[in-house]
Amino acid sequence: KLTLDLSHAAAQVSPRLYGLMTEEINYSYDGGIYGELVRNRAFRDHADKADHWFLIKADGDSSSMKLDTKHPVNQALPVSLHLKTASANAPAGIANDGFWGIPVKSSTTYKGSFYAFTENAAATAITASIESTDGKTVYARAEITGIGNSWKKFSYTLTTTQTAKPAADTRLVLRPSTAGSYFFSLVSLFPPTFNNRANGNRPDIMQLLADMKPSFLRLPGGNYLEGGMFSTRFDWKKTLGPIDHRPGHMGTWGYRSSDGMGLLEYLEWCEDLHMEPLLAVFAGYALNGDYLEKGPLLKPFVDEALEEIEYVTGDTTTVWGKKRAQDGHPAPFPLHYVEVGNEDGFDKSTSYNGRFEQFADAIKAKYPNLQVVATMGGKDWLGARYPFDASKADVVDEHYYRNAFEMESDAAHYDNYDRKGPKIFVGEWATREGSPTPNFNSALGDAAWMTGMERNSDIVVMSCSAPLFVNVNPGGMQWESDLIGYNALSSYGSPSYYAQQMFNNNKGDEVIAIHGDGIPTQLQKLNHKDSLASVNPKTYAGLFYVATRDSKTGTVYLKVVNCLPTVQNVSLELNGAAKVKPAAKVITMKADKPEDTNTITEPKKIVPVNSKFNGVKNLFNYAFAPYSITILQLETK
Ligand code: AHR
Repeated sequence: KLTLDLSHAAAQVSPRLYGLMTEEINYSYDGGIYGELVRNRAFRDHADKADHWFLIKADGDSSSMKLDTKHPVNQALPVSLHLKTASANAPAGIANDGFWGIPVKSSTTYKGSFYAFTENAAATAITASIESTDGKTVYARAEITGIGNSWKKFSYTLTTTQTAKPAADTRLVLRPSTAGSYFFSLVSLFPPTFNNRANGNRPDIMQLLADMKPSFLRLPGGNYLEGGMFSTRFDWKKTLGPIDHRPGHMGTWGYRSSDGMGLLEYLEWCEDLHMEPLLAVFAGYALNGDYLEKGPLLKPFVDEALEEIEYVTGDTTTVWGKKRAQDGHPAPFPLHYVEVGNEDGFDKSTSYNGRFEQFADAIKAKYPNLQVVATMGGKDWLGARYPFDASKADVVDEHYYRNAFEMESDAAHYDNYDRKGPKIFVGEWATREGSPTPNFNSALGDAAWMTGMERNSDIVVMSCSAPLFVNVNPGGMQWESDLIGYNALSSYGSPSYYAQQMFNNNKGDEVIAIHGDGIPTQLQKLNHKDSLASVNPKTYAGLFYVATRDSKTGTVYLKVVNCLPTVQNVSLELNGAAKVKPAAKVITMKADKPEDTNTITEPKKIVPVNSKFNGVKNLFNYAFAPYSITILQLETK
């Protein structure tokens, strides 16, 4: 039996409880949400060869293609592709295979651009086309004229026909009309973007995120913030302005980032989805273990963080606010939380005590209203690696990557947490079962875990699972079990995605206390190596729950997660309700087997389903389906 005490609010629900975490991993930006379709557009992915570029020529044609560094466009574009075409009859060309294909969709207009010059005497034209990989089908074509003898940027559009079938076995081809010597740099192609932003994001992935109604975006990482070494940290200043002036950098997950997703693009992403940025600043520690102790050598990085905050929040009379306006966004962005570093518990030097203090003092001195987040301090996981004085932190960031059973057995983690210390930001968490995206057992683990965060959201003020994205093509994944999967043409949400969407879209502003008779909230802490099969049902309840109420409407959102293979018949008692309406909206997500999942080919196998229940009374029974996540919307006003 579960008894809900509706006589008063047990706690307030944090308005920022559910957000998003992002970084360049699993081709999250390049090859993911960032709209660019050309891979290795600036020819800098590999020093010696033009990765993802191909020479197209007839048999026997002696045309050639190679990287060139003698003709830089500018400092950010030092490399170009030199094409020498030999035959005037069937001129050779260059082709790019995109991020596992250039997505072809019907009646779609793509915006293309490139820098080019020719060593030919006469001005010539170039044909741009999207073609099938075998070259037999041309989906769209445009002719660009006026290629001269010095670098110039050309823009054009390509439009597919109404009858074009979706295809990704495709490539972008640039073919000069006359034989000769040609140089290309920064070859770009964009499909339509969300809100038609220039240099913007993929609409389908943005829509999946919008449907989660996230309140914030933790950016830009993760490990991606820190970099493998100082020189490959997320150096935000190098990500500003036109893409022609962004050199890009080596990311932390084995591939180079174009930096098309720069600081302003992150902020506009926030603006488009009505989220607030949660800005993580580089804190003088890189993944190779290099660090700077608190002191004068660290100061330039502290100053850089202050400038970054000014870029986000400053008005146009400030140096960096003015720069943001020049970059196209005069209005400042809202900002309440700044995180110093990422997972600094890995810093074996223990220097984070001093580094955090120097950053926090400087941030608070200039921006007293900002809340400063430390990446250590909780009593578990990273917090336990070495003693850290979290007294200067407003919030500490704790990370949890676990299997479903570990999540479930620790769902009451925050029930007895120290309420006197800093607030908690669960800045990375995930149940990691299923690949590339989590299966339904993960969704159960996630949902059980979320009941605990929601019940304790007086102290757990923010949370975001990670990683957010994965390109499901072979080679697209560096980290398994990611919330949203995609290829060039389509995207889908995992069961865990839908669990998070259900939780965030159905919550009130007050936590309602629940007394579980025979269903403990505080589960016995079990050995993490135990599997569900070996669990003693007397100590493992397998049922997790939380209730919140909308104080204005009186709607109570009762969430119950049944991780067991059997129906759970539960008596529900509503104590202290002003009124109880018999009809309730019910949202249920369930699976036949915990291993069931969504995939790119079966994207909606497991989704929440709406229904009605007409038997709500002060005391009533509800049968929770096996392996299910259920939300009852009880009307109490
Ligand atoms: O989410 C993947 C990685 O996990 C993040 O980059 C890092 O912060 C954590 O270790």
